[in-house]
Amino acid sequence: MNQKTTPIIRFDSIVKRFPDVVANDEVSFSVEEGTVHSLLGENGAGKTTLMKVLYGLYQKNSGTIYLKGEKTDIVSPMKAIELGIGMVHQHFKLVSNHTVIENIALGLTDVSMTRPTRQIERKLIELAGKYGLDVEPRAKIWQLSAGEKQRAEILRALYRGAEILILDEPTSVLTPGETERLFNVLEEMVTGGKTVIFITHKLDEVMKISDQVTVLREGRVIDTLATASTNKRELSKKMVGREVLFDLERDPCNRGEDVLEVEGLTTYNDKGVIAVNDLSFTVCEGEILGVAGVAGNGQRELSEVLTGLRGATSGKVVINGKDLTNATPRRIADERVAHVPEDRIKQGIVGELTLNDNAILKSYRKRPFSRGIFLDYKKVREWTENLIEEFNVKAPGTDTPANLLSGGNIQKLILGREVSSNPRLIIASHPTYGLDVGSAEQIRNLLLKQREDGVAVLLISENLTEITSLSDRIAVLFEGNLMGMVERDQATREEIGMMMAGTPLEQL
Ligand SMILES: Nc1ncnc2c1ncn2[C@@H]1O[C@H](COP(=O)(O)OP(=O)(O)OP(=O)(O)O)[C@@H](O)[C@H]1O
Ligand SMILES: [Mg+2]
Repeated sequence: MNQKTTPIIRFDSIVKRFPDVVANDEVSFSVEEGTVHSLLGENGAGKTTLMKVLYGLYQKNSGTIYLKGEKTDIVSPMKAIELGIGMVHQHFKLVSNHTVIENIALGLTDVSMTRPTRQIERKLIELAGKYGLDVEPRAKIWQLSAGEKQRAEILRALYRGAEILILDEPTSVLTPGETERLFNVLEEMVTGGKTVIFITHKLDEVMKISDQVTVLREGRVIDTLATASTNKRELSKKMVGREVLFDLERDPCNRGEDVLEVEGLTTYNDKGVIAVNDLSFTVCEGEILGVAGVAGNGQRELSEVLTGLRGATSGKVVINGKDLTNATPRRIADERVAHVPEDRIKQGIVGELTLNDNAILKSYRKRPFSRGIFLDYKKVREWTENLIEEFNVKAPGTDTPANLLSGGNIQKLILGREVSSNPRLIIASHPTYGLDVGSAEQIRNLLLKQREDGVAVLLISENLTEITSLSDRIAVLFEGNLMGMVERDQATREEIGMMMAGTPLEQL
């Protein structure tokens, strides 16, 4: 008898080409049934593409997919679902003003027409109980937190009979607590015999949750390993093809004049609840001020007020000595304030436009690009080519629409554009969110370089390691209140963690 069981999925020489790039180049590896298999790779390595091929959203150019040893043609997502494959995308696909049940009913054919809701609800509750996926079936999607939405997506896939579940960067939207919960769910699923394919950039997660890991680089498989017999350093080296320095080199801070002064700032969120409460701080030349906090504690609103996207109800924002409280985004940008927004796709780029257009989004009115009412396209193209080269953006050409770039490459383009605008102040919200270790390192070094050049940097991040390794001072936000401000070498991670959980510095 054959000792080894047949893998549930076997990719055999999968090739997927786009007009300008080979996204998957002869990809071959196997996934064993009842395991968590991570897919690790830099931005643009081809992870999402491969999974879209498996889910029938893209058609491969050549190669074969075997399911349980049988050659299979997955011509559409419908076919994939029929074959027991489910996918939770990088960006959720639920309809927001429908309930969880309605979302699950969408596209189902075998529901009793008379009482579909009752029928679905019963099965939902059963599934939810089995895997610990609690979410209120009658709640509308817009009322749910990111974690609940994700659980609803997983439920939908399971409802449709998924035996193989693909999760594309599922933890990037979750708090640490919710990530923990998701991992418990995945463990339940695997114990129940299901198979999970888990796409992530986070090496800690690969080590923690997966049995096997396949590393992709530039569309090719570098290796498939058992996590038990590897480590983070080895994985990151395989992923980027060189050693990654986990410790950044930085010179001591040369503090200059105050560039940003915030005084008693207060603002409300979209639901009319106080988001930032009587906040005061300064950032000076050549300094990185890190704002730490769990997502949703006022960081987003703070960055919006500072860049003119949201009004302040009281308090003052002074930039370069000028009172810019409630000034327009354009007026603020004219003070050489660069912004790396949290929602890059919505606020950082215009997806349909080419890289050329996106590269000059903020400077098209200025020389050398503008010649009277016309744009000097040759100059624009040169400038964009430079950005792509200098910031290591992987893109087929400057005429490519920005939304065809992978998430990390979009981020590098935005950062490159903002940094190249010769700023006095950079407001960077989660600048390395969703980036692989190589790109993240590049971006962190870039911020340090700006600081050395005398730029003031306000760094908003949930990543505590990033905050502590880059910042000169650290401010911690909790429910819109400043819990404390500490010098880099005076703070311990534990203390910052306590403040993030709501204990003010003076009570520590
Ligand atoms: N629809 C498309 N048309 C053209 N090119 C595409 C398309 N989708 C992806 N690409 C390109 O294929 C390559 C692989 O992209 P993919 O999205 O699979 O990367 P990824 O590994 O998921 O990256 P990330 O970690 O940033 O999400 C990239 O160079 C990307 O620009
Ligand atoms: Mg992807």
